[in-house]
Amino acid sequence: MKAGIIGSGIVGQVLAKAFKQEGYEVLLGTRDVTKEDVVKFGSENAGIAVGTFEDAARFGDIIVLSVKGTAAEEAVRLAGKYNFENKIVIDTTNPIADQPPVNGVLQFFTGPNESLLEKLQALVPSAKFVKAFNSVGNTLMYKPQLKDKPTMFIAGNDEEARKTVTDIVSSFGWETADMGKAEAARAIEPLCMLWCIPGFLQNDWQHAFKLLKT
Ligand SMILES: NC(=O)c1ccc[n+]([C@@H]2O[C@H](COP(=O)([O-])OP(=O)(O)OC[C@H]3O[C@@H](n4cnc5c(N)ncnc54)[C@H](OP(=O)(O)O)[C@@H]3O)[C@@H](O)[C@H]2O)c1
Repeated sequence: MKAGIIGSGIVGQVLAKAFKQEGYEVLLGTRDVTKEDVVKFGSENAGIAVGTFEDAARFGDIIVLSVKGTAAEEAVRLAGKYNFENKIVIDTTNPIADQPPVNGVLQFFTGPNESLLEKLQALVPSAKFVKAFNSVGNTLMYKPQLKDKPTMFIAGNDEEARKTVTDIVSSFGWETADMGKAEAARAIEPLCMLWCIPGFLQNDWQHAFKLLKT
């Protein structure tokens, strides 16, 4: 399997290395392959190819979208909407506005009855977007070392795609709570606000959510 990672920030880099570790062929995409950070990543990770957003989207059997939330729709257009058709797209993005947090609470550019995942899904209706990895810090995304196994909440319209993402998330050391269709992203994306509050208020970024059951 090939994973095309759209996004060269810390999340793109962490997930590119994780997929590589799990045996995937990986290509990391950026708008600027000459960027210092990207050149460093390429030299330290010789087994991971580097290219444009479009290269990553074309390359991936599975695509990971890990770009700045305000630029997510533009990134999909830059990568070529046709490259997403019928593919699973793991969407790690959050709709974080450019305004600063208020008392540790991030501001979103989406309202309560919408989500960035739904906006992206509307942009490429045949793609199989699945929200995942958005409400945990990058240091805990792969094989997190916590007291207990944390829960990753996922959502997206395609059931098979959610199953595939569940398998990936399990192999990354998580249990999954499948919350169903795309509208559930309206509840999952704000978990990122909650997750970040202890970070902004107490500089505590080492935690994750767990869903307890009887
Ligand atoms: N940081 C975390 O721990 C964390 C955890 C969970 C979820 N997330 C979410 O994951 C996503 C990625 O986060 P991140 O921290 O890795 O980095 P980020 O700074 O949010 O995003 C970096 C990526 O966004 C792209 N980008 C920035 N402006 C753009 C524009 N105008 N047009 C197109 N692309 C643009 C950059 O392109 P270039 O490659 O060209 O620079 C880069 O690939 C975000 O939505 C974030 O909310 C982050």
